[in-house]
Amino acid sequence: MTTLPVLRKSLPDADATMRAGAALAPVMRGGMVVTLSGELGAGKTTLVRGLLHGLGWAGPVKSPTYTLVEHYLISSLYFYHFDFYRFDEPAEWEDSGFAEYFRSDALCVIEWPERVRGMLPPIDVALTLRYQGDGRELLLAADRPAGSACLAAFASTVR
Ligand SMILES: Nc1ncnc2c1ncn2[C@@H]1O[C@H](COP(=O)(O)OP(=O)(O)O)[C@@H](O)[C@H]1O
Ligand SMILES: [Mg+2]
Repeated sequence: MTTLPVLRKSLPDADATMRAGAALAPVMRGGMVVTLSGELGAGKTTLVRGLLHGLGWAGPVKSPTYTLVEHYLISSLYFYHFDFYRFDEPAEWEDSGFAEYFRSDALCVIEWPERVRGMLPPIDVALTLRYQGDGRELLLAADRPAGSACLAAFASTVR
């Protein structure tokens, strides 16, 4: 997919990362595939936490560091939060059953997509977090219609 950033946002603190995640919530839909790239500690899980809160999830949000996936059911939307940092055997993809998670009623948000490159379905929105001084910078890219609509809506709500 196109990896050119189409939108950038400065995130001076963790609250700003939460708010950016929440701002993406209204335009997320079942069937979308969203990736989150960036170094350890870049704020990927924080952004997912904001997104889940924005979608109405009031419970705890654990990092899927060890479990590889955490799931949530928010009314009729299945939300799968993957973290593939520890997934280093692409040969295990078939046996893992992870392919079954990518359904039209499921929103899949993926940390460390680089570890499963070539196995994911087409990506709608690619988010990248980078260290920027004491804070972070968020880059958003999209090249499918659902992803582009998502970014346009995000641009109009976030200052
Ligand atoms: N914009 C930001 N500026 C400063 N610190 C942030 C920002 N966003 C998140 N953090 C902090 O960075 C740390 C790591 O965040 P986390 O979401 O666990 O990163 P990752 O999932 O990318 O490893 C947390 O302490 C979090 O509060
Ligand atoms: Mg994380």
